[in-house]
Amino acid sequence: MINGNERKLLFVCLGNICRSPLAEGLFLHLATQRGVADLFEIDSAGTGAWHAGNPADPRSLAVAHAHGIHLASIARQVDPDHDFTRFDLLLAMDQSNKTDLINLGAPPQKVLLMRQFDPALNHAEPHLLDVPDPYYGGGDGFQRMYDMLLQSCAGLLDQLAPR
Ligand code: 4NP
Repeated sequence: MINGNERKLLFVCLGNICRSPLAEGLFLHLATQRGVADLFEIDSAGTGAWHAGNPADPRSLAVAHAHGIHLASIARQVDPDHDFTRFDLLLAMDQSNKTDLINLGAPPQKVLLMRQFDPALNHAEPHLLDVPDPYYGGGDGFQRMYDMLLQSCAGLLDQLAPR
Protein backbone atom coordinates (compact mmCIF):
# COMPACT_ATOMS: atom_id res chain seq x y z
CA MET A 1 0.00 0.00 0.00
CA ILE A 2 1.03 3.62 0.31
CA ASN A 3 2.28 5.66 3.25
CA GLY A 4 0.86 9.01 2.13
CA ASN A 5 4.25 10.61 1.44
CA GLU A 6 4.34 9.68 -2.23
CA ARG A 7 4.64 12.79 -4.42
CA LYS A 8 5.91 11.59 -7.79
CA LEU A 9 3.11 9.82 -9.62
CA LEU A 10 3.12 8.15 -13.02
CA PHE A 11 -0.27 7.19 -14.48
CA VAL A 12 0.08 4.25 -16.87
CA CYS A 13 -2.15 2.63 -19.51
CA LEU A 14 -1.50 0.85 -22.80
CA GLY A 15 -1.48 3.64 -25.39
CA ASN A 16 -1.14 6.77 -23.20
CA ILE A 17 -3.83 8.49 -25.25
CA CYS A 18 -7.15 7.58 -23.56
CA ARG A 19 -7.04 6.61 -19.88
CA SER A 20 -3.73 7.73 -18.36
CA PRO A 21 -3.77 11.26 -19.87
CA LEU A 22 -7.24 11.74 -18.40
CA ALA A 23 -6.13 10.38 -15.01
CA GLU A 24 -3.14 12.76 -15.08
CA GLY A 25 -5.30 15.74 -16.04
CA LEU A 26 -8.00 14.93 -13.50
CA PHE A 27 -5.54 14.46 -10.65
CA LEU A 28 -3.84 17.76 -11.48
CA HIS A 29 -7.23 19.50 -11.71
CA LEU A 30 -8.36 18.19 -8.30
CA ALA A 31 -5.00 18.96 -6.70
CA THR A 32 -5.14 22.51 -8.13
CA GLN A 33 -8.66 23.00 -6.77
CA ARG A 34 -7.38 21.91 -3.38
CA GLY A 35 -4.34 24.19 -3.57
CA VAL A 36 -1.83 21.35 -3.36
CA ALA A 37 -0.75 20.89 -6.99
CA ASP A 38 2.74 22.18 -6.22
CA LEU A 39 3.33 19.23 -3.92
CA PHE A 40 3.21 16.78 -6.80
CA GLU A 41 5.21 15.77 -9.81
CA ILE A 42 2.91 13.90 -12.17
CA ASP A 43 3.17 12.40 -15.62
CA SER A 44 1.63 9.63 -17.68
CA ALA A 45 2.98 6.98 -20.03
CA GLY A 46 1.94 3.92 -22.02
CA THR A 47 3.39 0.44 -21.98
CA GLY A 48 3.08 0.53 -25.80
CA ALA A 49 4.76 2.98 -28.16
CA TRP A 50 2.22 3.14 -31.02
CA HIS A 51 0.99 6.62 -30.16
CA ALA A 52 4.20 8.19 -28.85
CA GLY A 53 4.31 11.89 -29.74
CA ASN A 54 0.53 12.17 -30.13
CA PRO A 55 -1.87 14.26 -28.07
CA ALA A 56 -4.64 12.52 -26.15
CA ASP A 57 -7.44 10.84 -28.11
CA PRO A 58 -10.06 13.41 -29.22
CA ARG A 59 -12.71 11.55 -27.19
CA SER A 60 -10.65 11.89 -23.99
CA LEU A 61 -9.99 15.54 -24.81
CA ALA A 62 -13.73 16.07 -25.29
CA VAL A 63 -14.86 14.43 -22.06
CA ALA A 64 -12.19 16.35 -20.15
CA HIS A 65 -13.12 19.62 -21.85
CA ALA A 66 -16.79 19.07 -20.97
CA HIS A 67 -15.70 19.14 -17.34
CA GLY A 68 -13.43 22.16 -17.68
CA ILE A 69 -10.18 20.22 -17.89
CA HIS A 70 -7.49 20.69 -20.53
CA LEU A 71 -5.28 17.68 -21.25
CA ALA A 72 -1.79 18.82 -22.27
CA SER A 73 -0.28 15.34 -22.30
CA ILE A 74 1.77 14.11 -25.25
CA ALA A 75 2.00 10.32 -25.36
CA ARG A 76 5.22 8.56 -24.53
CA GLN A 77 6.25 5.02 -23.75
CA VAL A 78 7.21 3.94 -20.25
CA ASP A 79 10.97 4.27 -19.77
CA PRO A 80 11.99 1.56 -17.29
CA ASP A 81 15.51 2.97 -16.79
CA HIS A 82 14.20 6.25 -15.43
CA ASP A 83 10.53 5.91 -14.54
CA PHE A 84 10.87 3.02 -12.10
CA THR A 85 13.33 4.92 -9.92
CA ARG A 86 12.07 8.47 -10.43
CA PHE A 87 8.40 7.85 -9.56
CA ASP A 88 7.05 6.81 -6.16
CA LEU A 89 3.87 5.28 -7.54
CA LEU A 90 3.08 3.66 -10.89
CA LEU A 91 -0.70 3.82 -11.16
CA ALA A 92 -1.93 1.18 -13.61
CA MET A 93 -5.33 1.53 -15.26
CA ASP A 94 -5.95 -2.21 -15.49
CA GLN A 95 -4.55 -5.54 -14.43
CA SER A 96 -2.73 -6.09 -17.71
CA ASN A 97 -0.96 -2.70 -17.43
CA LYS A 98 0.06 -3.72 -13.91
CA THR A 99 1.42 -7.08 -15.06
CA ASP A 100 3.25 -5.45 -17.97
CA LEU A 101 4.93 -2.93 -15.65
CA ILE A 102 6.12 -5.66 -13.30
CA ASN A 103 7.36 -7.71 -16.24
CA LEU A 104 9.30 -4.65 -17.43
CA GLY A 105 11.06 -4.60 -14.05
CA ALA A 106 9.00 -2.15 -12.00
CA PRO A 107 9.25 -2.71 -8.24
CA PRO A 108 5.96 -4.51 -7.52
CA GLN A 109 5.27 -2.46 -4.38
CA LYS A 110 5.17 0.71 -6.49
CA VAL A 111 2.63 -0.68 -8.95
CA LEU A 112 -0.96 -0.10 -7.86
CA LEU A 113 -4.30 -0.24 -9.61
CA MET A 114 -5.90 3.15 -10.02
CA ARG A 115 -9.37 2.03 -8.97
CA GLN A 116 -8.20 0.65 -5.65
CA PHE A 117 -8.30 4.30 -4.54
CA ASP A 118 -12.03 4.56 -5.23
CA PRO A 119 -13.42 4.49 -1.68
CA ALA A 120 -16.54 2.68 -2.92
CA LEU A 121 -14.36 -0.20 -4.14
CA ASN A 122 -12.36 -0.62 -0.98
CA HIS A 123 -12.98 -4.32 -0.63
CA ALA A 124 -13.56 -5.19 -4.28
CA GLU A 125 -11.88 -8.17 -5.90
CA PRO A 126 -8.90 -7.21 -8.10
CA HIS A 127 -10.71 -8.26 -11.28
CA LEU A 128 -13.34 -5.57 -10.60
CA LEU A 129 -10.73 -2.82 -10.40
CA ASP A 130 -9.97 -2.31 -14.09
CA VAL A 131 -10.62 0.96 -15.87
CA PRO A 132 -11.73 -0.69 -19.14
CA ASP A 133 -9.92 0.42 -22.28
CA PRO A 134 -12.47 2.60 -24.12
CA TYR A 135 -10.45 2.88 -27.35
CA TYR A 136 -12.37 0.38 -29.48
CA GLY A 137 -15.68 0.61 -27.69
CA GLY A 138 -18.44 3.02 -28.52
CA GLY A 139 -21.29 4.53 -26.62
CA ASP A 140 -20.61 6.04 -23.25
CA GLY A 141 -17.24 4.37 -22.65
CA PHE A 142 -15.39 7.65 -22.33
CA GLN A 143 -17.91 9.15 -19.93
CA ARG A 144 -17.84 5.97 -17.82
CA MET A 145 -14.04 6.14 -17.81
CA TYR A 146 -14.26 9.76 -16.65
CA ASP A 147 -16.59 8.81 -13.80
CA MET A 148 -14.30 5.98 -12.66
CA LEU A 149 -11.19 8.15 -12.82
CA LEU A 150 -12.85 11.03 -10.98
CA GLN A 151 -13.67 8.79 -8.01
CA SER A 152 -10.23 7.16 -8.10
CA CYS A 153 -8.26 10.41 -8.41
CA ALA A 154 -10.26 12.02 -5.60
CA GLY A 155 -9.63 8.99 -3.37
CA LEU A 156 -5.92 8.99 -4.22
CA LEU A 157 -5.65 12.71 -3.48
CA ASP A 158 -7.43 12.21 -0.15
CA GLN A 159 -4.73 9.73 0.83
CA LEU A 160 -1.80 11.85 -0.36
CA ALA A 161 -3.01 15.31 0.71
CA PRO A 162 -5.73 14.89 3.35
CA ARG A 163 -7.98 17.91 3.80
P1 4NP B 1 -5.28 3.71 -23.63
O1 4NP B 1 -6.17 3.20 -24.86
O2 4NP B 1 -4.41 2.57 -23.21
O3 4NP B 1 -6.30 4.06 -22.58
O4 4NP B 1 -4.51 4.91 -24.14
C1 4NP B 1 -5.61 2.64 -26.01
C2 4NP B 1 -5.28 3.44 -27.06
C3 4NP B 1 -4.77 2.88 -28.22
C4 4NP B 1 -4.57 1.52 -28.31
C5 4NP B 1 -4.89 0.72 -27.22
C6 4NP B 1 -5.40 1.28 -26.09
N1 4NP B 1 -4.08 0.95 -29.47
O5 4NP B 1 -3.99 -0.29 -29.55
O6 4NP B 1 -3.72 1.66 -30.43
